[in-house]
Amino acid sequence: MTDHYAVIGNPVAHSKSPAIHAAFAHQTGQHLEYGRILGSLDDFAGDVRRFVAEGGRGLNVTVPFKQQAWDLLADRSARAEAAGAVNTIIVLDGGRLRGDNTDGVGLVRDLAANQGFGFDDKRVLLLGAGGAARGVLGPLLEAGPAALIVANRTAAKAIELAATALDDRVNGCALDALLGQRFDLIINATSIGLAGSTPAIPEDCLANGGWTYDMLYGDQPTPFCRWGAEHGAARALDGLGMLVEQAAESFALWRGVRPRTPPVIDLLRGRAR
Ligand code: ATR
Repeated sequence: MTDHYAVIGNPVAHSKSPAIHAAFAHQTGQHLEYGRILGSLDDFAGDVRRFVAEGGRGLNVTVPFKQQAWDLLADRSARAEAAGAVNTIIVLDGGRLRGDNTDGVGLVRDLAANQGFGFDDKRVLLLGAGGAARGVLGPLLEAGPAALIVANRTAAKAIELAATALDDRVNGCALDALLGQRFDLIINATSIGLAGSTPAIPEDCLANGGWTYDMLYGDQPTPFCRWGAEHGAARALDGLGMLVEQAAESFALWRGVRPRTPPVIDLLRGRAR
């Protein structure tokens, strides 16, 4: 029998996850089907229950359900626990559900393994203090930067998020407190790009040779990618690689096989390898 997986979100029609997982399944010779579920905004738990009752084996959870998934599942991995969000649901034998979060490891793998960014001795700036920022904080620290500054329009949220790390390399502050500071890597985890704009950060806060990374992606360069290019970034990356890497980690959790990601990233960028 074919195993069924899906991404659940609202909206979900634009999701690239079905194409990514179909490519992984083809590459690894795994027999599975991966669909999309338009989750109902007031009955996420019911949607998950129905999917499992019909024999579903696993779900990717996307906007706006990641926190609800965390609430729903009692059995959560340590990284889901720290992220406060679940993006991967694993259906165990007997129908029990386990929640995990592969977003942070996806970001770090894209930066370190795909792009060759070395975190050692680097000063990293994380913009935003919402769910997206919280989801990547732990894995970013594990990557070993010298300092990680969380900066947010609402400073109190950045200070609060930074405090959860219990790590003296981490500090939270307001965007205007970045004046005079320089960073080797600036990661945009705010949602402002969806409105076509970028966070109000100092023009000169990217160090010489520094990189920018937008967790958003699009068919065109995102506003923050453009900001990076205009401010001398050695690399101005978008979040497509992170999307594929978080999917690969989910796939490995479900299937016990890790797909190769570079050909799938190229495929999505329209460059078949
Ligand atoms: P997500 O799950 O995508 O992180 P979220 O939890 O709503 O969504 O968080 C959105 C983030 O984008 C927040 O850090 C938010 O800043 P505030 O905490 O000050 O609201 C940030 N953001 C959204 N619009 C912004 C803007 N116009 N300028 C700066 N930051 C913005």
